[in-house]
Amino acid sequence: MFHKKSIEQLLFEASQTGEGTLKRTLTSFNLISLGVGAIIGAGLFSLTGIAAAENAGPAITISFALAAFACAFAGLCYAEFASMIPVAGSAYTYSYATMGEFMAWIIGWDLVLEYALGAATVSVSWSRYLLEILNKYGIDLPHSLIVSPWEKLTLGDGTVIQGGIINLPAIFIVMLLSLVLIRGTQESATMNNFLVILKVSVVLVFITLGWSHINPDNYTPYIPENTGKFENFGWTGISTGAAVVFFAFIGFDAVSTAAQEAKNPQKGMPIGILGSLVVCTILYVLFAHVMTGLVNYKDFAGDAKPAATAFAVTGYAFLQDALIIAILAGYTSVILVMLMGQSRVFYTMAKDGLLPKFFSSVHKRFHTPWKTNLFFLVFVSLFAGLVPVSDLGHMVSIGTLFAFVLVCIGIMILRKSLPNAVRPFRTPFVPFVPIMGILVCVFLMYSLPSESWIRLFVWMVIGIAIYFAYGRKNSKIRKLRDGKIVTTDRE
Ligand code: ALA
Repeated sequence: MFHKKSIEQLLFEASQTGEGTLKRTLTSFNLISLGVGAIIGAGLFSLTGIAAAENAGPAITISFALAAFACAFAGLCYAEFASMIPVAGSAYTYSYATMGEFMAWIIGWDLVLEYALGAATVSVSWSRYLLEILNKYGIDLPHSLIVSPWEKLTLGDGTVIQGGIINLPAIFIVMLLSLVLIRGTQESATMNNFLVILKVSVVLVFITLGWSHINPDNYTPYIPENTGKFENFGWTGISTGAAVVFFAFIGFDAVSTAAQEAKNPQKGMPIGILGSLVVCTILYVLFAHVMTGLVNYKDFAGDAKPAATAFAVTGYAFLQDALIIAILAGYTSVILVMLMGQSRVFYTMAKDGLLPKFFSSVHKRFHTPWKTNLFFLVFVSLFAGLVPVSDLGHMVSIGTLFAFVLVCIGIMILRKSLPNAVRPFRTPFVPFVPIMGILVCVFLMYSLPSESWIRLFVWMVIGIAIYFAYGRKNSKIRKLRDGKIVTTDRE
């Protein structure tokens, strides 16, 4: 259970080329774009308004800065790992090298919450914006096929749908993007670059056109007084706001899942991870500043599309549709990168024997783990079609924060166990940075609703059961030790 994979072994396995392997096609620009692609999405365009209305008021900008700090600590640790062990699998692989097989399995299993459920969450938000635009042009889809059971949806024209059968638009986008991923990594990266340019343009247009229409009165009070409840305003509200908008930063670590497909991972990984984090933090704070300057924070209560509401104030109403379409494109790239990250994590776990070979099968012509993509097409579709969005969102946040904590612990262990290993990027101020990372992430986990803790626990119990039923017996490291195989690399 505590067997570790040596870094040399990991690097050797990743250096194999030919049939059944991933191709190195991604440049540093592709990697930053991949990060920004995974980061800017539902968190910014949907949650900012809600968190301003309920938790932080105009000081939501401070919440964004706080959440960025939490991510920066974890991001610095990710960057050291990703440049040192640039192979597929991200945090899962790092744990295999530092904390042993069992912890690696735990984190790999946990990452399903981040990537697969992350993709499901954003696809539900995607379907909301799609319905908005269809509704505007008088296209009405059958109500039972656009909302999951146990979910309430208010359409733009005021129609309220109280629970449907299934959310088909969300399933549609998951299926479409899974097929794009099967077609090829380079093709997916090209599509992602295009979507990211569109998405960043929208954010920039929003900030520049919105800036001159800001009404300074909306900033008074900047930090509304706490109402007596922990989460409603004041400094405690700002910290709760940070836990909510943390969702907006999820995804920068997805860059590390593509390490095995990066052309120059030693340099590209830190640039991709930290670069995308810096770009997004700057954009988020400016965006939130303009948004709460255009409309009073109180007016965002219950608004699922606050960006459109705020933009309407500028008078550039004709740009509203363009804004929604670009937001749809933006969400698309988040779903794409999340699905990609998920398939790479399972691919790697299957390579190590912890999951059946089915998951590591690479398409002969497309060089992608296509069977895993198909599996997650079905898995993610089920969640996207049937589970309410807020339940999904909280599980994604808690799962991701847990992964960040383990990565921060891993860096400290690695500095002790392998002090002299080559580190193309070194996390500064160790152990201060990882310890701060752990403290801030645990604090944000604490700010999430208790049901998310219970769900995390249940998910982990299922994972541990699978490990003992399958992974432990089939682990290649174990077979190697028992003399059943002679090498852990691919047969
Ligand atoms: N950070 C991603 C988003 O906001 C998950 O949609």
